[in-house]
Amino acid sequence: EIVYLNGEFVKKNEACLSPFDRGFLFSHAAYEVTAVFDGKLIDFDAHMARLDRTLDGIDIPRDGLAERLKSLHEELIARNGVTEGFVYLQVTGGAYGRRDFGGPETLTPGLFMFCETRNLIGEKAQHGVSAITVEDQRWKRRDYKTTQLLSQALAYREAERGGAFGAILHEDGMVTEGASANLWVVLDADTLVTRNLGRQILPGITRQSVLDHLAREGITVEERAISLEELLGAREVFTTSATGLILPVVQLDGKPVGTGKPGPVTRRVQGQYYRGIG
Ligand code: PDD
Repeated sequence: EIVYLNGEFVKKNEACLSPFDRGFLFSHAAYEVTAVFDGKLIDFDAHMARLDRTLDGIDIPRDGLAERLKSLHEELIARNGVTEGFVYLQVTGGAYGRRDFGGPETLTPGLFMFCETRNLIGEKAQHGVSAITVEDQRWKRRDYKTTQLLSQALAYREAERGGAFGAILHEDGMVTEGASANLWVVLDADTLVTRNLGRQILPGITRQSVLDHLAREGITVEERAISLEELLGAREVFTTSATGLILPVVQLDGKPVGTGKPGPVTRRVQGQYYRGIG
């Protein structure tokens, strides 16, 4: 397997990064994960636009990066022969040989990329997954896609310890999103709800793409916060993300969601989305 690190394609186990990198010391880094389906990058431009926004938000220069990234993605996919899976990229604040909170006035970014083969429309999409609810303990700018992922990592560990697949985060009685995905809830036959954008959640690229598909079909979605109570009483729940695309959540905190099987609305959304990328 070949990865890309600071200007070079190298073997995965030969990639070396300075521990003084600001990404390592301060989680001063932006990242993106773009799905690859049928050998093609899904929603690449939207991922790059979000990357630019995060970089602006965390004071890392992005001059000329966007132009280089398309071909780097393609080369990485080709070198690793990935037809289905994803590309991960991280842009860090760079390494300066010392631990200095502020650092130089203009940072020189580091860039790391790898890709992975994964079945994006597999068992989990078919049968659904289980999740637990966990308090959201993240910082206040969750709309930036940064590598400050400790609370999500801990939420996943808690889920896995209890035999669940993932976690759904909430604060003050309201649901924010999944630990690494946006959340959607079907409350009654025709009310599909997903949280409105803001600083509390990541503006998911898959979320936007699903909204666009649904709008074309004339299906309306309520964009608002839902309470934990509404979540636990929902007919259907599903998540959207680049690594899972559309995953039905069929069990929450050990109890079945609706019938305990992926529901008709989730199936319809999956069908539309899969046709769109296929
Ligand atoms: N996570 N919300 C959070 C907190 C996320 O980490 C992600 C993606 C999403 C979905 O965004 P998108 O549709 O653009 O993938 C929502 C990636 C996949 C990850 O951390 O691996």
